[in-house]
Amino acid sequence: MNGNLIIKNASQLVTCSGYKAKQGKEMSELHVIEDGAVVIEDGTITAVGKTADILSDSVAESKYDVVDAKGKAVLPGFVDSHTHFVFGGYRAEEYSWRLSGVSYMDIMKRGGGILSTVKATSEASKEELMKSGTDRLNSMLSFGVTTVEGKSGYGLDRDTELKQLEVMELLDQEHPVDIVRTFLGAHAVPEAYKGNEDAFIDFLIDGVLPEVADRKLAAFCDIFCEQNVFSIEQSRRLLSKAKELGLKLKLHADEIVRIGGAELAAELGAISADHLLQASNQGISDLAESRVMATLLPGTAFSLKEPYARARYMIDQGCAVALATDFNPGSCFTESISLIFALATIYMGLTTEEVISSLTINGAAALDRADITGSIDKDKKGDLIVLEHPSYHFLSYHIGVSSVEKVIKKGKLVFDKKEGGLISC
Ligand code: NIG
Ligand code: FE
Repeated sequence: MNGNLIIKNASQLVTCSGYKAKQGKEMSELHVIEDGAVVIEDGTITAVGKTADILSDSVAESKYDVVDAKGKAVLPGFVDSHTHFVFGGYRAEEYSWRLSGVSYMDIMKRGGGILSTVKATSEASKEELMKSGTDRLNSMLSFGVTTVEGKSGYGLDRDTELKQLEVMELLDQEHPVDIVRTFLGAHAVPEAYKGNEDAFIDFLIDGVLPEVADRKLAAFCDIFCEQNVFSIEQSRRLLSKAKELGLKLKLHADEIVRIGGAELAAELGAISADHLLQASNQGISDLAESRVMATLLPGTAFSLKEPYARARYMIDQGCAVALATDFNPGSCFTESISLIFALATIYMGLTTEEVISSLTINGAAALDRADITGSIDKDKKGDLIVLEHPSYHFLSYHIGVSSVEKVIKKGKLVFDKKEGGLISC
């Protein structure tokens, strides 16, 4: 396989066409071509249209690998734009405590939660993190994910933060899924800094952030802006410095308590504000106006038994919404895109079309990559999925089960359910 591929006869070619985020009503426009075909050359999409037109245009089929998608829908690969997939250890017992009523923040106050993963991650070798990271990326790929964001934040010290980012840099080179790295050094307050959070922010600004920026170890900087974690002022200080150093911004905002994280994201010109379970009407209109992506994580609300973010209201107010898994060892241990479809359609009131936009072109825009992925358009990467079914509606109709039959990454077949799953290239 050389990255030259034709997909032909797709019952639906769902292009999600566009090179920037879809706002509000635009999220319903999927741009479907019936009996569609795509030509990919050297990993890049060179032609999109009706099969009859594309194949009559003197395309010499013999030069390409050919996928006949008769009776199947074809879509862009999914972009999971918020995860914490590199970590050591697990927190299965903690999940059971939560099922019996102990809250996420109470577990955190007792030194559990994020801090227990911090300990396990600092003790894990790079090889161990590579191995578990690879397994998790393989699983994501089977759900049709071709680009994923991954955060540090289970170090809180220089060495472990850098170790997480370096592991993601290596995984990006070795694994077909593209990885966008985010520095989340301000994910929790380490024991030594309890009550002295400002000093921890100073340490990140002076002791870690400049190296992350110099070595281009991350494209984004993020912070857990939350009551009893990092305040609005501390978040503003860290993120402003990150911006000055050339990083793009994300925030864990208004997740558990409404403290104005959405408003801050708009003020700072962040690319996305994430979670937003408690975002205010003002915060939501600020996001819409400043064109900051509202990245919603229904798996986390489900797993924490918290109310879902007001996705319907946000879209009706003109926001651009992305959906993501938030895959992590604590608040949401799932990489299932199928679960996200189920929760977003049934509990958040989104249509299947809106969910697809939020996991493709808007997922890409949440990573500032809408110019290169997230839709089936000329000059974008040849990242596509072929469903087992003739229409995209099966993505929500087939509840909790992945309908993805094949995954194509830069024009190469990397996953085929019919051939037993992963294909090594
Ligand atoms: O996005 N809210 C903070 N961070 C993660 C949870 C990480 C963890 O519990 O390990 C989140 O939900
Ligand atoms: Fe998160």
